[in-house]
Amino acid sequence: MPANNLIPSMDMASAAFKANPFPFYAQLRAEAPVYRLTVNRPADNPLWIITRYGDVAAVLKDERFVKDLKHALPPDQLPKSSWRPAFFHLLDNNMLAMDAPEHTRLRGFIHKIFTTARVEQMRLKVEQLAGELLDTATKNRHFDLIEHYALPIPLITINEVLGIPREDYAKIYRWKKGLMAAAAHPLHRVGRFANFLGFAGYIRKLCHMRRVDPRNDLISALALPDENGDRLSDAELEGMVVLLLVAGHETAVSLISSGTLALLEHPDQSALLRHNPMLVKSATEEILRYYPPIETATDRYAREAVTIEGVTIPRGGQVRAVIAAANRDPSQFENPETFSITRETNKHLSFGQGIHYCMGTPLARLEGHVAFNTLLARLPDLRLDVPVESLRWRSGLTFRRLETLPVTF
Ligand code: HEM
Repeated sequence: MPANNLIPSMDMASAAFKANPFPFYAQLRAEAPVYRLTVNRPADNPLWIITRYGDVAAVLKDERFVKDLKHALPPDQLPKSSWRPAFFHLLDNNMLAMDAPEHTRLRGFIHKIFTTARVEQMRLKVEQLAGELLDTATKNRHFDLIEHYALPIPLITINEVLGIPREDYAKIYRWKKGLMAAAAHPLHRVGRFANFLGFAGYIRKLCHMRRVDPRNDLISALALPDENGDRLSDAELEGMVVLLLVAGHETAVSLISSGTLALLEHPDQSALLRHNPMLVKSATEEILRYYPPIETATDRYAREAVTIEGVTIPRGGQVRAVIAAANRDPSQFENPETFSITRETNKHLSFGQGIHYCMGTPLARLEGHVAFNTLLARLPDLRLDVPVESLRWRSGLTFRRLETLPVTF
């Protein structure tokens, strides 16, 4: 039981915690608006945890919370950062890590190009892809739904949208897998360097090729100047492509796999959806609310001291707004612990809020709608192939995603 708003011992990033974080969040939400997490951190520099719906939405919209620590603290108070090779900036040099006005400028480029109409053009292809993946997966009565379905649907789709050549998909996947493993397991960090060099070199070359010889794809469109003649620098373009590759993939893998799990855990709801495929829109929103792919929004820093319901977060304080907790706040949702695909008002926070609100919502929703309806239509007797308690979740504070989802039919 947390006392004095302090969480001294719960490792919220551990795989064991990720299996069922919801009772702990319910306890935090009920007891206090703000907590200090000191696990694996110095006691005088805690992580500030926010869990109530109204506070989470407010923090994500509040311009006093910034993404770039340099905008929160004067230079002499910034922690000394350890040296990193320049090409690693490819991972940080993107709009999700920036504040206005840099963020506004970068977001403007993609806003005009990555439209709902462009995404809608992908529908037939995603439907065809989902069908083909199931043709292959079901050659075996036992298969991992992540490897054969939830992972390739978003990976192939985002590659296609960006214009990555088909023959390079496997390479991109290997690199990304290496990077994710390195992020999760420190022992793999040695391999990270070589892995990252290959990835960075590839992205650089591809962006350059699309600039000099444009095609009908997103990278080429992003490389063009806008109507005012402003254009993305090479580093900005490369950072944008990496952000879209990462943001547009891991989250959607989680939507499809956690969503399938939620449906298997609630057979009455999956039967309802199977008999009424038109319900897939509200079902997908409920899945996003119930099992949000981004459990905790990315780091923000207080630009000045900010008081939330009587608790003051000091200047420079590092804050995490817990989307998964807000999405089950009884002050916002009726029967929040009930999974109901016909829920009528569902203002979940799973795509964030404010200036960093997700730019991929049309694509994420399209992938979810197609994946769930195709799966239920093709495999009405789909079931888990292992006890639910034995499912393993990935560690990490931000994402919530299963390692594997063994199923049978
Ligand atoms: C179910 C799938 C997805 C979920 C749950 C999701 C969720 C989110 C959330 C919560 C944020 C804000 C994070 C924060 O404020 O800390 C975000 C930002 C973002 N998402 Fe998504 N996302 C999904 C899919 C996608 C896809 C498919 C794309 C693109 C292809 C995408 C592109 C982005 C981008 C570019 C940002 C940064 C926006 C900015 O900083 O202004 N997302 N996403």
